[in-house]
Amino acid sequence: MNLREVVRQRKLLLQSGVLEKLSSLQPAQALEILLEAEKKAEESKQVVITLDTIDFVLSEKNQGKKASQAPVEVEKAAVTPQEMQAASDAASGFVHSLKIPPFKKFDCDGTVEDFVSHFRNRFAKLSTMLKNRVSASNGVTSIEQAKSSIERRKSRIIGMVGNKSITKKGNLRFEIEDDTGVMTCVAQQNKPAMEKAQELWLDDVVGVDGAYSQGLFLVENIVWPEIPMRQKRLAQIAEDVSIAFLSDLHVGSKYFLEDRFEKALGFLNGAGSEEENGIAKTIRYVIIAGDVVDGIGVYPSQEKQLVTKNVFEQYSLLGQYLKKIPRHMQVVICPGNHDAVRDAEPQPPLPSEFVQEFSQDNIHFIPNPCMLEIHGLKIMVYHGTSFDALVSNSQKLGDAFDHPEKVAVEMLRRRHLCPTYGEKPIVPSPEDGMVIEDIPDIFHFGHVHKNASFDYNGTVIINSGAWQGETDYQKSMGRKPSPCLMPVYNLRTGVLKILDFNEESEGQKRAKT
Ligand SMILES: [Fe+2]
Ligand SMILES: [Fe+2]
Repeated sequence: MNLREVVRQRKLLLQSGVLEKLSSLQPAQALEILLEAEKKAEESKQVVITLDTIDFVLSEKNQGKKASQAPVEVEKAAVTPQEMQAASDAASGFVHSLKIPPFKKFDCDGTVEDFVSHFRNRFAKLSTMLKNRVSASNGVTSIEQAKSSIERRKSRIIGMVGNKSITKKGNLRFEIEDDTGVMTCVAQQNKPAMEKAQELWLDDVVGVDGAYSQGLFLVENIVWPEIPMRQKRLAQIAEDVSIAFLSDLHVGSKYFLEDRFEKALGFLNGAGSEEENGIAKTIRYVIIAGDVVDGIGVYPSQEKQLVTKNVFEQYSLLGQYLKKIPRHMQVVICPGNHDAVRDAEPQPPLPSEFVQEFSQDNIHFIPNPCMLEIHGLKIMVYHGTSFDALVSNSQKLGDAFDHPEKVAVEMLRRRHLCPTYGEKPIVPSPEDGMVIEDIPDIFHFGHVHKNASFDYNGTVIINSGAWQGETDYQKSMGRKPSPCLMPVYNLRTGVLKILDFNEESEGQKRAKT
């Protein structure tokens, strides 16, 4: 059996250059050294067999000594890549900068008062954003004032959208409501405002420009709270620091692409090509946007799609993978609709009973959604469960399953992650936790299983795709996932690289030659 077959059969991860080094030896000696190095790596809990380990085993053989007779050398060889990185961090003075906001519960009793407070809170937040827009600095009036103003006087009113319909004449009629009353608005066919009126979703909070006449507000323009157009912000840091984005692992599913995920973990541990290792060295953060396991009972007959049918075992398996992420990387995890938390959003962080096995100081559990701050940049993490409902709201989003970034743009325009109430379970807590209050520098989501990225008004939108292959459901719906792509974003340079673990990397190819 040649070395390549041994590496493949034993599922070994080798640091770049290890196979070349072994290939320079006699085959029998190379095999002996490799197996000895595997043992040493296991003893020291190394995920990857490094050149240092090979060198150590070689020197041990050359000296004819056992490891126990050379304690200093053993210690050197037992240093894991993580520990080496930690030592190098300490030497270079690198300090992680990760701020997770205090967790808010967003609970309610489901009373009428809760619903009223929820919508009032949303209206207050979004109408303030609209009033602060430069274009709205003059002429915002309440609905009550607009109704009592002189005939056809132009003004801007701000309200929440309801009751949208097409009239017999082909005009679009809708209502908007503020604290003072309800206004019936009409966007006339063939007028520029018609196109914008067609984009309105129920419960949107918008500014409507127009004039009041004979009981109706004749619409000339519509504005959404939006995020302002601005330059992409970069982290003010001296060295390259990157975030690796993951989502939708679906551990426990028969479609979970375990071998490719292992490859990705190998990459994080420095088992890639020289170029890949250059990228991996910059990664200090890993953000995972939900659906980390496949769960149980998420949809009818799900058990037929599972290889691990116990949710605790699914999380336990997940933990085994997460422990392979180098300790110098801060790992942040939010739940998704397949995870073991309530379905209604905002979702709390994963409960400790599921994750205590892998609770370690570099792994952080956050709610869904959550706005993080990393080296001064605002990173919004949201699983993306509202995606399906939003797509069904809009003709404009007809191709959104291939272009999920388009839905993220609509969320940013509306400054809300699930504008239409009732289509997806949302907790009607007195405070609306789905409002996008701060402007994110990066908006990371998942759920769609389709990798995508887009720069919208200076916000970098990233959908990290999935680590689950095409499911029967996706096949029946004609949706093509794009699994096993890992976006890595450099916070200092603003460069986004998408690493593909579907194909063998150069380093991995070399490992098999
Ligand atoms: Fe998913
Ligand atoms: Fe999902």
